[in-house]
Amino acid sequence: MEGAEWPEPVVRVQSLSESGGATIPERYVKPEAERPALVAAESEAEGGGGREGIPVVDLSSPCDPETARAVSEACREWGFFQAVNHGVPGELLRRARGVWRGFFHQPMEVKQRYANSPVTYEGYGSRLGVEKGAVLDWGDYYFLHVRPPHLLSPDKWPHLPHELRETTEEYSREVAALCGRLMAAMSLGLGVGEARLQEAFGGAEGTGVCVRVNYYPRCPQPELTLGLSSHSDPGGMTVLLADDRVRGLQVRHRGAWVTVDPVPDAFIVNVGDQIQVLTNAAYRSLEHRVMVNADEERLSVALFYNPKSDLPLAPMPELVSPERPPLYRPMTFDEYRLYIRRKGPRGKSQVESLKATAAAGHR
Ligand code: OGA
Ligand code: NI
Repeated sequence: MEGAEWPEPVVRVQSLSESGGATIPERYVKPEAERPALVAAESEAEGGGGREGIPVVDLSSPCDPETARAVSEACREWGFFQAVNHGVPGELLRRARGVWRGFFHQPMEVKQRYANSPVTYEGYGSRLGVEKGAVLDWGDYYFLHVRPPHLLSPDKWPHLPHELRETTEEYSREVAALCGRLMAAMSLGLGVGEARLQEAFGGAEGTGVCVRVNYYPRCPQPELTLGLSSHSDPGGMTVLLADDRVRGLQVRHRGAWVTVDPVPDAFIVNVGDQIQVLTNAAYRSLEHRVMVNADEERLSVALFYNPKSDLPLAPMPELVSPERPPLYRPMTFDEYRLYIRRKGPRGKSQVESLKATAAAGHR
């Protein structure tokens, strides 16, 4: 079967990092135009004040019209925001980070039992995309399906550390509930009924929830590579629990890379390509990437909240008019996600390509 295995032997970035070499293998060296400008980012941080960052949204009254307005504005202007007072206990966030740090700090032979394949991506992985000879990212990850229930495969979940399963289930349940509240606020902010976006996802039943835990080991030449190359998230919405000590996430706002400074205990929420499609680009997904560093490893937990995967998705009729024709042709998420799974992270090229086709169809 095509794409049933990786095109090349898998190398764990953690093993490369721990081998202690002073240089990174050629496979991880990015073309010059894609490399992070580490020096500029540092001096900017030292400069302090006046730097624009992603908006911070207070979710303490999620049903309040003011909350919907703030969420909506953030989704229109940035497609990214930090959510504070989101209702998920800080203690659970720390436990979630803790169990996954525990997983990645186990001996390599334990982790290798969960090695993933490009068929479903579930398990322990070290690349995104199956193109032979591709330049790789400086990061390992663990990917899991949580919902719908028929996609959850218990044998793909790590058995150790002991609390990992229960904690990840509890974490996913709480964060998925938060996504439900965010969907309602996003919907209200579009001027449609609060249940409308969830309905367009195929209802709560069909909604997909996946977790990707990113582990970025220390890197001897961080100026030459990226932990995760520029991409927009293909799914509906992403809720990211960033590392509590180490920065690294950057978003591309109006052409410039902006480093995110995580607020303690906040979540970083972003619009994925499917919400861009459903809202006819009222809300937009934003390109983002991850820098690595020489001194410290970094861990993040991304929860992806996705539409029912076999439903053709197109702009909602309420957001289409003669002045604003549909920008995207219908496609199921199952079909859509194959692109990043085959080609790896490539900015916003996929959602852009849907657009070109729709425009051509209109002429
Ligand atoms: C992702 C992602 C950012 C990070 O997993 O899609 O963008 O900071 N992660 O790890
Ligand atoms: Ni992402």
